[in-house]
Amino acid sequence: MPTLSVTPQAGVGAEVHGVDLRRLSPEQVDDLTEALGAHGVLFFRDQDLTPADHLELALRFGPINRNRFFTAHPDHPEIALVIKEPGDDGNIGGAWHTDHSYDEEPALGSILVARDVPSTGGDTLFASMASAFDALDPATRAEISSARAVHSARHVFGSETDVYGEGNSDYEGRLGNAAAADRLDDAVHPIVIAHPISGRPTLYVNPVFVVGIVGMEREPAFELLRRLYAHASQDRFVHRFRWEPGSVAFWDNRAVWHNAVDDYAGQRREMHRITIDGCRLEPFEPAG
Ligand code: SIN
Repeated sequence: MPTLSVTPQAGVGAEVHGVDLRRLSPEQVDDLTEALGAHGVLFFRDQDLTPADHLELALRFGPINRNRFFTAHPDHPEIALVIKEPGDDGNIGGAWHTDHSYDEEPALGSILVARDVPSTGGDTLFASMASAFDALDPATRAEISSARAVHSARHVFGSETDVYGEGNSDYEGRLGNAAAADRLDDAVHPIVIAHPISGRPTLYVNPVFVVGIVGMEREPAFELLRRLYAHASQDRFVHRFRWEPGSVAFWDNRAVWHNAVDDYAGQRREMHRITIDGCRLEPFEPAG
């Protein structure tokens, strides 16, 4: 007997109703884990979570993975602050990506809580990497079936980058710790993973953190990656989530990309993110 109601959304994801995230029963934690495996991202409305509730909620799904680069909540270092002030030029996360793919064991996912939302704009887009894989043509599937991609944080958060690193003063106070990014070794993951919960074949490359393909020259590797990115970001795989006060999204980084739309110049947006530990990713092996 299901303990909550799950309504699939266009593109990817599902809205979950009939649940108070402050008081989950063990059965509801199991049902949410199953729903996350099935839908890739879960959306909740009208929740009333303090930062301590947010932390307790995340711990029901696994150990916390503290982000090394985002400014942390002053009382809860496990909470990464995702803030854009009215005077800031750029937002955080405003391109298709999957969090922490530069780690050997990439994070399972993140729980994002809306704290201060602009009156217009500031939506987040999610794209299904399992549906994108399913829709690939056979030749491309064969081309990537045993390929592995290299993921890195250095060109995004490191000291020599003007993306978010020390070269870009707009992010001062919001992001930091460039030296940790400089020290971080690249990670290698299969391009087609077996999703750790659902077992589905799932594309695991993203435009922000992937810097190459093992054994391929840069140009042909990026030509292939650009083709995969154009395919995976088609509207048919995408859901646009409109935030309201009390909204929460829980996404699986191994199943979806996300992209925070930066279209609310002059307004403030504050989100709190907690990221949960994941595991090593295995390649998808077709049966037979
Ligand atoms: C992120 O990339 O984690 C931020 C998403 C958002 O602010 O909508």
